[in-house]
Amino acid sequence: MINKQHLVAPSILSADFTNLESAIKLLNNSEADWIHVDVMDGHFVPNITLGFPVISQIKKHAKKPLDVHLMISKPERYLEEFKYAGADILTVHYEACTHLHSTIQRIKSLGMKAGVSIVPHSQVLLLEDIIAELDLVLIMSVNPGFGGQKFIENSYKKIKQTKELIRATNSNALIQIDGGVDANNARLLIEAGVDVLVAGSYVFSHKNPKEHIMQLKTLKFSKTE
Ligand code: DX5
Ligand code: ZN
Repeated sequence: MINKQHLVAPSILSADFTNLESAIKLLNNSEADWIHVDVMDGHFVPNITLGFPVISQIKKHAKKPLDVHLMISKPERYLEEFKYAGADILTVHYEACTHLHSTIQRIKSLGMKAGVSIVPHSQVLLLEDIIAELDLVLIMSVNPGFGGQKFIENSYKKIKQTKELIRATNSNALIQIDGGVDANNARLLIEAGVDVLVAGSYVFSHKNPKEHIMQLKTLKFSKTE
């Protein structure tokens, strides 16, 4: 039974990088709530994606909040830069921060919403002493680094544990899921307690991405695909 309206955050990682402007305009005119931007540094994860100049350009065209997911080591080095580039929500990885509490306080004092992500092998309980401070918990349902990977089924357990931890600590954090989200699991994920669905390849590998965004928003999927 679903009794809340969830959010959809398409990941532009799977968009055509030679024509980002049209991807952003498409998202502006879709049911997308946020625009998910994946930043990778080739150190915390094996891949390298984009940085401040590209985020600033995306921001020029975006009419929706930029949900910036940092898959970089020591993200505390660049919080101001991400703010000035246009991030509205800034998510760092638990595994990438030595002084996570202080990093979260700085993100919030810069006027951004603060998120923390955990990779598939990290336990939800690691967030026990920080979750009350968070606006967002991002559960990675693939190993971060690449789009188009297979969803890890153990993520359902982690969503439920996060939900319980949020309740126990009176946290206002939203639960976001990222990796392998598609027509097969979106409804189950929302039922398990997810508030924000991130989807890259499911949205942008389709000839009409707006249709797939709509499907993720309404949780009504056409049977022909
Ligand atoms: C992966 C990124 C994801 C990625 C998801 O490390 O964090 O946001 O774009 O892509 P899909 O939806 O294709 O798994
Ligand atoms: Zn992401």
